Order: sequence, then structure tokens, then C-alpha cells
Amino acid sequence: MNLSEAKEVLASCGQEHLLRFYDQLNEEEQQSLLDQIAAVDFSVLEIAAKKSEEVRGKIEPLKEYCTLTETAAKKDKFESAGLDAIRHGRVAAVLLAGGQGTRLGSEHPKGMYNIGVNKDLYIFEMTIRNLMEVVKKAGVWVPLLIMTSTKNHEETTNFFEEKNYFGYDRDHVRFFIQDMAPSVDYNGKIYMEGKGKVSSSPNGNGGWFSSLMRSGLLEECKENGVEWLNVFAVDNVLQKMADPLFVGGTILSGCPSGSKVVAKAAPDEKVGVMCLEDGRPSIVEYYELTEDMMYEKNPDGSPAYHYGVILNYLFRISALEDIADQSMPLHIVEKKIPYMAEDGTLVKPEKPNGYKFETLILDMVHMMDGCFVFEVQRGREFAPVKNKTGVDSVESARALLLANGVEL
Ligand code: UTP
Repeated sequence: MNLSEAKEVLASCGQEHLLRFYDQLNEEEQQSLLDQIAAVDFSVLEIAAKKSEEVRGKIEPLKEYCTLTETAAKKDKFESAGLDAIRHGRVAAVLLAGGQGTRLGSEHPKGMYNIGVNKDLYIFEMTIRNLMEVVKKAGVWVPLLIMTSTKNHEETTNFFEEKNYFGYDRDHVRFFIQDMAPSVDYNGKIYMEGKGKVSSSPNGNGGWFSSLMRSGLLEECKENGVEWLNVFAVDNVLQKMADPLFVGGTILSGCPSGSKVVAKAAPDEKVGVMCLEDGRPSIVEYYELTEDMMYEKNPDGSPAYHYGVILNYLFRISALEDIADQSMPLHIVEKKIPYMAEDGTLVKPEKPNGYKFETLILDMVHMMDGCFVFEVQRGREFAPVKNKTGVDSVESARALLLANGVEL
């Protein structure tokens, strides 16, 4: 993009101020700024403006789950179907590690966090260790695709190199970078982070599939015979990826997607909850659950909205391709956004001063034609690291790791 093209684009969406400091930049910085402008997804601003028109469908309790009891009865069938798919290279794991981990507040990518006590144990290391269990059982390497963002890509890839991929075969690991979305003030004007830097943040974990397609890695997966993608969050240190039981169960169910769920610890626990939306499986966010819904009961007396998602989904690639053209709901998050003021001073706000835009992977479930909802044991598979202390923290995850026999 050249200067006059940039001026034209910016004028069409009222963002001319992004070139305010252009004349004060050297040639290289000027080109970098033009490149950033070319990369900005301005369409989110229009979608955000129309946001108030969006309404949620009719939410009801979901009735069909594969419970722990059902899995125990079908264990052998599920496991052999899952191992068969893994051995034939039909399953790849996708690690979402593009987030900024603001709640944890570490300077480095969340996966680099050392959760060890008496020895080093990094979150990425735990991920690899958990995946290695399947590799050993299946006798094949599972392709691992790691999503980073421009903010943490270099540090993440260097870390894996430095740690020799924690023993994983590097030929089976690929990285791809997620797209960014602009951060704006309350009037929809994009902030500048510096004189030659547009303020942006990773566009949410829902951007993973479009970013995977753009990177060319989806084609590579398909050429290698991969049919299913198991997508999971970096911050659950007990996360089981490419779990043969889950993979087998989902494939045998005939559903194009699957989601692991756990029984909620309390009716008001802050997790997304499986439900039906207009008759299709969907996820209702904790803040969308009314008090009545939290305590609602099924006819048999069991809680109606009881199963929370743990960001471990399995998707059939062909089903993802079918929905690739559909736009995903845009979530607008209020944030503290550091910015450069008109006079060139840098401001670090004390309270939220604008919005960032995200799409969320959980919205993909509702876009699918069906979802196999698979209960797993909470104490064995759910140890999220969101905060330093308290709920879903380094402390609580350490306790859960110890309870599962992991030496720290
Ligand atoms: P969270 O929603 O917990 O966000 O991510 P976060 O950025 O890690 O942490 P906070 O909210 O700033 O404290 C859930 C998963 O989705 C990934 C994260 O890396 C984590 O694995 N994620 C999130 C992305 O890959 N990209 C994003 O843009 C956002």
C-alpha cells in the first residue's frame, strides 16, 4: 500500500488520524505504518457499529450428553476408533497460544510460565508431556499446530527451539500467526501505540481457523490426510489433547464436532455452559446466564445448565470449511489501552478507555450441524491458569497437578 492508497482507505472510514505523525517518521517507519494500515481489518468497525442489532436465539437446556458413565460402558469402542484415526494420521492438535494473558500478568507468553515449585515445569512443557502420552499409546507422532500472535510469535518459537521442543519431534510441529484487530476509543477511532504504530490486539481465539487457512497449513494438513482438528487452550495444564476416547466417541457419534465438558463446581461458576440455542447445541457465556437459569432443574431434579466447556473441541475439517464464509459474532471487550496522544505523549490509562474486538471459538459450536458433548473428570482434566492467585490460578493449578501425581 502506498501513501495515497492509505489516505483513501482511511478517509472512507474516518481514520485519517493514523497518519498524523507520518511526516515525522523515517522511510522505513513510514513503510511499516503503511503496511500496518493495509493489514487492519476495518470491517470490524462496521460490525461493531451494528452490534446492538444482534440478538441471541432461544436458549434451552441441552439434553444429550455422553456422561462419564456412558463413556465407561463404551470405553473400548471409543478408544479403538480414536486410536485408529490417530494412527492413520487423521487427527491434528491445534494449540491456541495467541492470547495476551493479561490476567496472569506475565511479561512473556503464557505457555512460558514456569508452574514448577522445586524444579522448572513450563506450561508448554506440560502440554507436550500430555500429548506425548497419546503419542506413546498410538505409536505415531500427532501433528501439532501452534497458533501465536505477532506479539508473542518470536518469543514462543525461540522458546521451543531453546528447549528442544521438550522432546517432541520438531518435524511434526508447525506455527502459524493469528490476525490482529484494531483497538479503538469509545468513538470508534483507532488508537496509535506509537508514532508509527497502530494499536491492535490478537483478534480472539475464534480467528484460529481463518488464520490457519491463510497460513497455508490447512492445505498441508489435508494433503497429509488430516480430517479432524482438536483445538485446545494453552492454559489448562491438565488438558488432554488428541484423547483417543474423545476422538473415537465423536467420530462414532457422526457429529461434525465434539466438545469436552466438565460438571460445574457451582451454579454460578464463571464458565461457558453447554445449552441448546434455537434447537442446536451452543454455549451460553456465564454472564448471559440469568439467576433463574443457574438454578434451573431438569424434570429428574438434576441441574439444567450443569456442564461447562473447557476449550477442548474437535472439528471435522470439511465442516469447518462449510462455515468458513460465515461471519462470526463479534465480541466487544472494554479494555485499558495504552496510546499516544495527539501531542505525542504516551498515556497508560488507569481505567478502561476503549474497546478491542474478538471472535470466540465457542461460537463455532453453534455454527456446526451437531456436537458430541463429552463429559470428562474435572479433577483429572481441568486445571486452568488464568490468574496468579485465587480461582483458576497458578496456585489452584499447582494443587491439581500435585493431586494428579505430577512432581513440581
Ligand atoms: P483467554 O480467553 O483466557 O485469554 O484465552 P488470554 O488472552 O489468554 O488471557 P486474558 O483474558 O488476557 O487474561 C483462552 C485461550 O485462547 C487463546 C489463549 O492463548 C488461550 O489458550 N487465545 C485467546 C488466542 O489464541 N488468541 C486470542 O486472541 C485470544
